[in-house]
Amino acid sequence: MIHRPRRLRRTASLRSFIRENHLRRDMLVQPLFVCERAHDAGPISSMPGIERMTLAQCVAKAKELHAVGIGGVLLFGIPAHKDAVASSNEAESGIVQLTIRAIKDAVPELTVIADLCNCEYTDHGHCGLLTEHGEVDNDSTVALLARVALTYARSGVDIIAPSDMMDGRVGALRSALDESGHHDTVIMSYSAKYASAFYGPFREAAGSTPAFGDRRSYQMDPPNAREALHEIALDIEEGADIVMVKPAMPYLDIVRAARDAFDTPLAVYNVSGEYAMIKAAALNGWLDEDRAIDEMLIGFVRAGADIIITYFAEDFARRHA
Ligand code: PBG
Repeated sequence: MIHRPRRLRRTASLRSFIRENHLRRDMLVQPLFVCERAHDAGPISSMPGIERMTLAQCVAKAKELHAVGIGGVLLFGIPAHKDAVASSNEAESGIVQLTIRAIKDAVPELTVIADLCNCEYTDHGHCGLLTEHGEVDNDSTVALLARVALTYARSGVDIIAPSDMMDGRVGALRSALDESGHHDTVIMSYSAKYASAFYGPFREAAGSTPAFGDRRSYQMDPPNAREALHEIALDIEEGADIVMVKPAMPYLDIVRAARDAFDTPLAVYNVSGEYAMIKAAALNGWLDEDRAIDEMLIGFVRAGADIIITYFAEDFARRHA
């Protein structure tokens, strides 16, 4: 007897009956870039369709995203002032702090996530404080991150997402939050964040390219897989509520391995360079954009992701509303 798997692919309805994975709009998170100075707002040349926004534009966008069924937004601040110690990151009325308040006010049902890092706030563009030898100092950076996290928590953020890759920051954040009564502030850790070429367009968007060197002394080395599971295990032990793998497409083996090894909710970050690749090919007429996006996103679900952070969130949600 010949086996005929094609039998179940004959009609759209049969294919739908046996479809194994589904992408829901409420699993999606749209990253938003919010500027302190209005004149920094505008298009990002390497990310066609994505803009840096003013606070008011961000609030309007948050309302639209909620209306089309998106689960959350991830905020990145573009401050007016950068210095060696990222001082505007811990300002009580910093741009991210103000935007959190404004969005939670306008659309309380939408989950607001704040990326927690220093690279957009330092004049040297590194994710932490530097030693006199120009190295990123782990422990003083962690102390700074904890202070910043409290300002986000006081602003009413739902989730804090540390993306700096310093050691011990999840535990330090959890203690700082708990000691100040913010037991309900969720931590979504960028646990396995690789030193990736695919962050290029983001650095244009956020003006956060390192002035010297690179991020390889803190972000992970791309060839490593077991180390990613170790990083994730440490973050879970330190109290992370959600763990993340980043970037997405080149690291789906890590997503699958993490899903199999841990029961903690798992997020994946489909980064700026992955967005730029598809956009560039589509703008050249080299591939069918909508199909390429949907195929890529369902791949993340198939690999085991619960939450998908993607610059295509709004586009997907509008097409599948
Ligand atoms: C901040 C941060 C980065 C991204 C998210 N948080 C940049 C980096 O680490 O250089 C990248 C996001 C993207 O490329 O879409 N540390």
